[in-house]
Amino acid sequence: MSATPADRSPESTLAFLREGYRYVSSRCERYGSDVFTARLLLERTICLRGRPAAELFYDTGRFRRAGAMPKRGQRTLTGQGGVQGLDDAAHTARKSMFLSLMTPGAVRLLGQLFADEWRARIPVWEADGPVVLYDEVARMLMRAVCAWAGVPLAEPEVARRTAQMHAMIESPATIGPRYWRGRLGRRAAERWIADLVDRARVGTLPAPEGSALRAVAEHRDEQGRLLPRRIAAVELLNLLRPTVAVDRYVVFAALALHDHPAWRDRVRGDDDATEWFVQEVRRYYPFFPVAAARVRQSFDWQGHHFPRGRRVLLDLYGTNHHPDVWPEPERFRPERFTGWRDDPYGFVPQGGGDHLGGHRCAGEWITIELMKQAVTLLTTAMRYEVPPQDLALDLSRMPTLPPSGFLVENVRRTD
Ligand code: HEM
Repeated sequence: MSATPADRSPESTLAFLREGYRYVSSRCERYGSDVFTARLLLERTICLRGRPAAELFYDTGRFRRAGAMPKRGQRTLTGQGGVQGLDDAAHTARKSMFLSLMTPGAVRLLGQLFADEWRARIPVWEADGPVVLYDEVARMLMRAVCAWAGVPLAEPEVARRTAQMHAMIESPATIGPRYWRGRLGRRAAERWIADLVDRARVGTLPAPEGSALRAVAEHRDEQGRLLPRRIAAVELLNLLRPTVAVDRYVVFAALALHDHPAWRDRVRGDDDATEWFVQEVRRYYPFFPVAAARVRQSFDWQGHHFPRGRRVLLDLYGTNHHPDVWPEPERFRPERFTGWRDDPYGFVPQGGGDHLGGHRCAGEWITIELMKQAVTLLTTAMRYEVPPQDLALDLSRMPTLPPSGFLVENVRRTD
């Protein structure tokens, strides 16, 4: 007899879309179990949350990723044929390419390019009325990451290409026009990047040594073959798109500085405090709700049966808010990260486990660097006011964002 609680609803996809980030946790609380089953996207699915569950989920001997991500996510967010759906040797070969780009020098360079963009924009904000931080940061990140990656991007193209990145990020958990914008955005962006890969390969577009464009164009799989142009585009977009997605975390950081003004002084000139603050932003605010995998071979764990082929979802947001891992999880308290060491199964805003051997996000170092730059710029490079606006986070929207996009006004340069 299975000890696993089962959600009796014949199909819970709409409930998941309606309840959003709280869907898994609210049922875990109801059933008194961090493991339950539900029918999602027309198939029985095991939902998990918490540190022991994350440790299980990131055991690549037990789970595979091939066929785990729903098709609608592949057609919008991740693309098809990319690193997210690979396993074993094919995954390690592809993931090494990503990780080879994440040297401390390369991460710092991207942070510097972003900070330079930001400083150059301050005079424009000084002259303008209220500006939407989300829109501004997205375009700055797009310019910075394209320069960093060796991707040419003319100024008149910035808004359109940034909108394509946003369309991909915002569409997988939606239905209707937002979903279709995601598919169209992906199609256009893949065409754009595949063309650049072709040109880099024949030498008509210079791809600087060490650039992401060069690494992707020249990457060979574990059998020594170049990537098909469309998959090369998917992988280069796996660097551009999520870098632009850091705009959400920058808005959350601005929101946290607004809601906890004492931290403005604490982070100023203090690298450690800035890091704690950034980590707490990544823990506290919702971004990726869940990660998906499939059971390789049937097994039992803590009295729960995991049949071969079953889809399993790990609740990332719920794990970052699990009371067994995080005392007072609903309070924003950066000081909880004082003296903290990486906890690859309890702190999973960008996935958990091992970077090379598993599917943990390849861009965590970049994310942290860009967020630290943003917090430093918000607290030392400018003064600004936050006019009345709608800053409420809707936890049923995935991914969520304050409706206003965070307006700032009366910006003044201070350094
Ligand atoms: C906005 C901040 C970001 C968030 C919230 C985020 C989140 C995630 C999550 C949840 C995963 C999947 C983990 C799993 O499947 O178990 C992931 C994977 C990945 N991320 Fe990020 N990410 C962010 C930024 C970045 C950046 C800046 C890059 C690169 C420049 C990046 C590149 C990747 C890649 C390549 C993967 C696939 C890894 C694999 O399948 O082995 N991400 N990310």
